[in-house]
Order: sequence, then C-alpha cells, then structure tokens
Amino acid sequence: MPHTAIADTPQLRVELRGVGKSFGGTPVLRDIDLVLEPGSVHALVGENGAGKSTLSKIISGLYTADRGQLVVDGEREHFTSPREALDRGIATIAQELALVPELTVAENVFLGREPRTAGWIDRKKLKREFLEVAARSGFDLDPDQVVGGMRTADQQKVEILRALARGASLIIMDEPTAALARHDAELLHDVVRQLAASGRTVLLISHFLGEVLALADTVTILRDGRHIRTAPAADETEATLIEGMLGRTLSSIFPDKPVVADDAPEVLRVSDLVAPGVNGVSLSVKAGEIVGLAGLVGAGRSEIAHAIYGSVPRASGIVAIDGANCPADIPRTLKKGIFLISESRKEQGLVLGRPIRDNVTLSNMGQIASGGWVRTGDERRASRGLLDRVTVAGDDRRDVSALSGGNQQKVLFGRALQKVRKLLIADEPTRGVDVGSRRAIYDLIVQQAEQGIGVLVISSDVEEVLGLAHRVLVVRGGRIVAELEGDAMTEENIITAAFADPITTGGAA
Ligand SMILES: Nc1ncnc2c1ncn2[C@@H]1O[C@H](COP(=O)(O)OP(=O)(O)OP(=O)(O)O)[C@@H](O)[C@H]1O
Ligand SMILES: [Mg+2]
Repeated sequence: MPHTAIADTPQLRVELRGVGKSFGGTPVLRDIDLVLEPGSVHALVGENGAGKSTLSKIISGLYTADRGQLVVDGEREHFTSPREALDRGIATIAQELALVPELTVAENVFLGREPRTAGWIDRKKLKREFLEVAARSGFDLDPDQVVGGMRTADQQKVEILRALARGASLIIMDEPTAALARHDAELLHDVVRQLAASGRTVLLISHFLGEVLALADTVTILRDGRHIRTAPAADETEATLIEGMLGRTLSSIFPDKPVVADDAPEVLRVSDLVAPGVNGVSLSVKAGEIVGLAGLVGAGRSEIAHAIYGSVPRASGIVAIDGANCPADIPRTLKKGIFLISESRKEQGLVLGRPIRDNVTLSNMGQIASGGWVRTGDERRASRGLLDRVTVAGDDRRDVSALSGGNQQKVLFGRALQKVRKLLIADEPTRGVDVGSRRAIYDLIVQQAEQGIGVLVISSDVEEVLGLAHRVLVVRGGRIVAELEGDAMTEENIITAAFADPITTGGAA
C-alpha cells in the first residue's frame, strides 16, 4: 500500500562523506562532505559546471559516486537507480518535468501506484487520497484537470504532490524557478517553505542568489567540483556567495551601458506588426542601442522576436532594416544581419551528439557537406576563438551534451556572434547561467552595441532588463503597453505595466 505512505514523521538525514566522481578521467566532484539536515532548505550554488547537478544526481540515484559514501539516516546506501532513492524517500523535481500531459492531476500524482479494488483503479479512492495529500501540502489544485494545458508552476506542484504521495522526505529541486515568471516563482517559494516547515528537506539548486538568500537555511558553495564551504544563509550575502563561487569578487554584475550617439541611425523599425500572438506592435532600435522587452511569461515577447526574425509568418505590418523592407524569410533576415538567440537551447538546435566545435561553428559553415562535416584549420581556430570569447574552456572536441546547462547557452551565443551584423535579438540570454558567466554574456552584448549593432533583449529578470537596456518596452497581450526611459525605468513601473490592464498608449514607436 505504498500510495498511502505519507510518512507522519517524514524526516530524513542525508549525508555525503568524501564523495568523488569523475567523467572520462576528469574529476567533477572531489572529496565532498555534506550533511542535509531534516526540516531545512539547503541551497547549492556554484558556477556553471561546478558539479551541482552531478552532486544531486548522486543523491537521487541517477549516478553512483566513484568514491566515498552516501549515508541516509546513519546507514550506507548504494542506490543504483532513482527508483531506489525514491523508495528511500528521496525525490527529484526535474527541470524537464516528467508528467504525462494527457492524464489528470490526480492520475499523474498516483501514476503507477493507483489505489485499486479487485484489480481496477478505484477512482473514488484515488480522489480521496489526492485530496488528503493536497490538503497536507496546502496546494489548491483541481484533481480532474488535465495536466497538459497547465502552467509550468502548477505542473511543478503536481510533481511535488507526486513526490509527497510517495512519502518523499528529501526533495531535490534543480533550478526550479529558471523558467518561471516572477509571480509563479514566489508561489514556489511558499511551497519550499511549507515543505521545510513540515520536517522535510529541500535541496535547492539555483543561480538566483537573491532567491537562495531568501529561502535557504544553509548554503553550500561548490567551485570546480570542490566543497568551498557550508554556512548558515544568514551569514552570507550575494557578494560573499559570488566570491565563494568565483574565487574572486565581482564589483558589478552589469557593465557600463554604451553611449548611443544622438544621431545614431535606426537599424530596426517595426510598424503595426501583426502575427501569431502579436497584436499590432510598433517599435524601433537605433544602432548601438540596447532595448529591453519586459513582461510576463506568455505576454508575447518571444512572439514579437520571432515575427521580426521571420521564423513565423506575419499577417500584416512592416519590418525594416536600415530603412529597407525585410520580408519574413529567415535566409533573407540572416543576410540582412539579424540574428535571434531563442530562449530554448535545445530547440534552437544545439546538435547533441556532435562536438562543441561543430556546434559553435555550425552557422558559419553554411551547410553540412554531404557525408561529413567541413573542418579546416581555420575552423578549428575560429571555434577556439569564439569559445574563448564566451568563456567556455576545455577541449572543444568533446560532445556538446557533456557541457553543463549554462555552458551550452554560451555556445549558442558564440555561434550568434559570427552572424549578427545589424540586429541581435537575445531571448532570455542568461537563463540557467551563473553570475560570473552572466557578466561575460552582458559584456558580449555591450560589445555588440559598441560596434553599432542594435540589440533587443528579452528577459523575465527585471533586474537584468534594467541593468542592460537603454530603454524598456513592456509587453502585455501581444502589445507594447508602456515605454520606459531614464528615471521612469524602475522595477515598479515595469511590474505595474506588465500586470495592469492594457493602457491605451498607442504603442511606443
Ligand atoms: N554525463 C556527463 N558526461 C561527461 N561530463 C559530464 C556529464 N555530466 C556532467 N559532466 C561534466 O561535469 C561537470 C559538472 O557538471 P554539472 O552538470 O554537475 O554542473 P552544474 O554545476 O550543474 O552546472 P550548471 O549550473 O550549468 O547546471 C561539467 O564540467 C560537465 O561538463
Ligand atoms: Mg546543473
């Protein structure tokens, strides 16, 4: 009767002793000692590639350690699968959610463990047990709703309920808010606090240091696979965390904004653009100017980007580059020097299973020669040069899928740098990227602007938009509802405009 196993005393003490792990002879974790105390939120921070996900995968049974011990409630454990870890009370809320979209909330929560009567799923009991678990969690979810159409934040709740229904005491969350809008992230924060208050342990991996300081009781810093320190969150600040993560200080996360000449020409002018999710948008970007597109997830920011780039058809309206009409046709927009870095690195075609080198030079090769990839000494040097600029170290013949998430994002950036000449559109350029690398990406964006390239940056991180952009356009319902510049560029103004009912400002061209 595992489906009823919501332990009343769900406490679990998980400990790592001298844990080490290597991939292909390269040590990724070295001699890690760590205790996760029950009833607490324990955050894990570190640069991209520091070993955070690897550490969490050792605890959750996806990887086994090469050295050292995993100790659960005083007993040594050798998990050989996530299933075994789950049976011991350890669950992971993966970033790519593992739900069945066609099934309902309750069905997903009890998937594979449905209460049965004489072999048949007992629907009444399923619902009753669901309500019981839901009540304990404090979540307000409709058990009969189909999961597929739900918001990411709600789907995460379903995953958490599933973990609770299976009696999980340690819940690992690897960058749970990376893809969430601010409001949903706050909802998830409440959930994390509730879990800890109920005696469970949450292991939280996050690049949002503000979130870490607000939520965690304890913070562990990893750098280059080494345990730097574990300390009460109350003893840390963003600056001390950054120093621990990078081994150096970072005076400012944002570079100085480049100066835009008064007579800088317009590189982009969009007039009355209508396209899927875009309801009449007019805007312009000058040479050397960085314009931010702010708004909630789903407001239509990415849709605007795609309509400009030409990856979706336009219903009406005009997109002009340097004053000349540019039709919705990617080869032609590329030729005009527009490049889009889209928000999803997987969709945007990192070719997994291919070397980093091929991935970073991909767009430069024009085409893949039949039967093989073009590779010359020039390309080898080009690859290395680009990787240096985006600060991705190491052998570029390694498979790109072996890179940590943030480093994959930087490879995409490196690819874009060769193509863009007029306008760079960057959609969530630092999602999942650590603070040090974030600065590297900001520097790259600013360098582009300094060379006279116009930049359109989409970000859900209000601080990022404010720190980078000369001007901010707030998008809501596929329209631009506010244009903010100078002193009007504040967090409060952005959020008010993003949530407010559409204002009839007539756009912001
Ligand atoms: N399956 C794998 N095969 C080879 N190398 C791997 C594998 N998984 C991870 N690595 C390497 O191990 C190191 C740590 O990766 P890990 O994913 O744990 O980093 P992370 O701290 O989670 O980074 P991020 O913040 O980017 O998610 C990286 O150098 C990565 O390239
Ligand atoms: Mg990771």
